[in-house]
Amino acid sequence: MKPFRIAIAGLGTVGAGVVEILQSNADLIQSRTSRKIEIAAICDRDQDSDRGVDLSCYEWAGDAHGLADIGGLDAIVELIGGSQGIAYDLAKAALGKGVSIVTANKALLAHHGFELASLAETNGARIGYEAAVAGGIPIIKALREGLAGNDINCIYGILNGTCNYILTAMRETGADFEDVLKEAQEKGYAEADPTFDVDGIDAAHKLCLLTSLAFGVQPDFKAIETKGIRDITGADIRAAQKFGYKIKLLGIAKRQDGKISQSVEPCLVPADSSLGGVEDSYNAVFVEGDFVEKVLMTGRGAGRKPTASAVVADIIDLAKGLDVPVFGVKTDKLAKPVWADAGQIKSCYYIRAAGDAQITEEMEQVGLGALTDKLDSPYIMRVEDL
Ligand code: HSE
Repeated sequence: MKPFRIAIAGLGTVGAGVVEILQSNADLIQSRTSRKIEIAAICDRDQDSDRGVDLSCYEWAGDAHGLADIGGLDAIVELIGGSQGIAYDLAKAALGKGVSIVTANKALLAHHGFELASLAETNGARIGYEAAVAGGIPIIKALREGLAGNDINCIYGILNGTCNYILTAMRETGADFEDVLKEAQEKGYAEADPTFDVDGIDAAHKLCLLTSLAFGVQPDFKAIETKGIRDITGADIRAAQKFGYKIKLLGIAKRQDGKISQSVEPCLVPADSSLGGVEDSYNAVFVEGDFVEKVLMTGRGAGRKPTASAVVADIIDLAKGLDVPVFGVKTDKLAKPVWADAGQIKSCYYIRAAGDAQITEEMEQVGLGALTDKLDSPYIMRVEDL
């Protein structure tokens, strides 16, 4: 069979990892696809840095915009990132010409997923985005294929490796937030703009895609209530520990009575629960289906090798001719979601207040909003006994 020809746009941490896998496991991959994967062009603004892989045998394209014009390409691997600019332009140009896209770009799909999926369908192209959610965990494939016989009512988990790494290190070593964030950046976990990680935006991008796949609805990033981890103090972490809990940034999407609630926020989870045991840059995703019941998948959620592993899995699927709708069903069958009011969620809460605030029994009865009005600078986290 003729080779499956790709171009790679963006040779940062993940892009270099993709080349490394395609080189190291070339024979294995060819035996699984019955086709050779050929890198027809590579592209990055920086052509000089040593990325730990041999790039001398590949053709450098001068400008990512031009990649869609290369004749005979089967797919473009977009690893530039960002919801606008080159990544968006390139995806539209490629899909418009019937060239498939493989991407780790959750921001792009959270903002433009519906439009790009429609464009792909119209032009007979496909979009692989396994690497966009939960790094090396094959959760997109699990939802689109492995669990396709189930009605799913709930999906939740730890979706950001950087935050989990930071929270784990703060608890284990007592280190400061800023120092640990720097370490996470050095390890290649954090986004180019790490505020996306620590403010929960990256996890929200991922949750948006999971919600769409799980419930068959159009992705809608704006509908996610998002809170990050930057206000969590060492004292919160120690207090949680004292009560038998750990703090984790969770993405949670549930469907009840036809309405969907979505949130990303730091929560207290029991230290001895499955999620409590997921540490470091690991992610975990729980799915509850009506027949399969609970499924838990865990693995490295960030970093060069796990993320590149997911990118290569998509390339292999495309080379094999696998054709599944981007969000599990064709775009004309994706429903417009009805969102539940997240403020209605009944839960236990952890509340930190300044000064010597006392929470009386009478105050406990008044509801969270009214209670926190009475406290000085309250900081609130949900307690999730999931
Ligand atoms: N910055 C992301 C994370 C990378 O830390 O999870 C993987 O999507």
